[in-house]
Amino acid sequence: MKEKIKKNIKDIESFSALSNEEIETFRIKYLGKKGLINSYFIDFKSLDNDKKKDVGQLLNQLKNSANSKVEELKTYLSSDNSQPKLNDLSRPGDPIQIGSRHPISIVKNRIVEIFSNIGFTISEGPEIEDDWHNFSALNLPEHHPARDMQDTFFVNKDPDFLLRTHTSSVQVRFMENNKPPIRTISPGRVYRNEAISARSHCFFHQIEGLCIDKNVSFADLKQTLEYFTTQLFGKSKIRLRPSYFPFTEPSAEVDVYWGLNNETDYKMTKGTGWLEIMGCGMVDPNVLENCNIDPNEYSGFAFGLGIDRIALLLHQIDDIRLLSENDVRFLDQFKSSF
Ligand code: PHE
Repeated sequence: MKEKIKKNIKDIESFSALSNEEIETFRIKYLGKKGLINSYFIDFKSLDNDKKKDVGQLLNQLKNSANSKVEELKTYLSSDNSQPKLNDLSRPGDPIQIGSRHPISIVKNRIVEIFSNIGFTISEGPEIEDDWHNFSALNLPEHHPARDMQDTFFVNKDPDFLLRTHTSSVQVRFMENNKPPIRTISPGRVYRNEAISARSHCFFHQIEGLCIDKNVSFADLKQTLEYFTTQLFGKSKIRLRPSYFPFTEPSAEVDVYWGLNNETDYKMTKGTGWLEIMGCGMVDPNVLENCNIDPNEYSGFAFGLGIDRIALLLHQIDDIRLLSENDVRFLDQFKSSF
């Protein structure tokens, strides 16, 4: 009998319950009128007196542990189980929601990596800019009609403070503070007062590049661009179409040959096979002068591209607004990207 009771005590210690029904079954089994403990007490009466002391002690122990187990389990179940119990190692772990990188960051990191590999540093600047860094130093004096190429959000008039319309402003800051040779890229958010639609938004992201040294030529620009498109898209065929930017001369738009292998290619390139991806040119001597760099000694190239557009292209996203809505169902799809 003693052995049996000892085993019962052990069983009680290791018992646990997940519902009130289970606790009740347990209670009836041990403490009920016809339960185990009462039946032991009936047997107990007929024991020899010399055995009664030991067995009596054990029986009391059994009864106490059954009673306290019932209490313990009841308090446990009625307490707020959403609060993790630190001492209960058997509880299942709480699932952790793992986030993912935003497609803009994925593309930005990739472009930064590509240019870092050929010696470009990363420079950043303020999003609220003054007139000088966003316009005047870039060969866009006051009343210059090309200021209208980018509709500007002004924060303050006279003195003018505005939300930068491109990250070329960072390049001006960089040239003011660093001597050539310069190789830098400036990623960042830019703002333009445009109607929001599937194709355009009033803020987006750019990466602009700047390279200034002795004898930098248009051929260097073209080779750098070819390297870039090969690395990013796996496509090396590009074409440069003459264009106009106030801060570069000559200026060009860069198209990459995407191909026409399937229906998506036709859609993306409007049936031409070519995709426009950025603007570029040789830095205008006036800009160098404005930043205290001697244009007779140094020359350079610059380029600028929109990260959002490339993210849309690479991930086949058809509405630019998705990039700023932060809908988790959208963002979750980029978990497997790096
Ligand atoms: N800053 C230009 C834009 O925002 C892009 C550009 C940068 C063009 C450098 C030429 C050279 O549209």
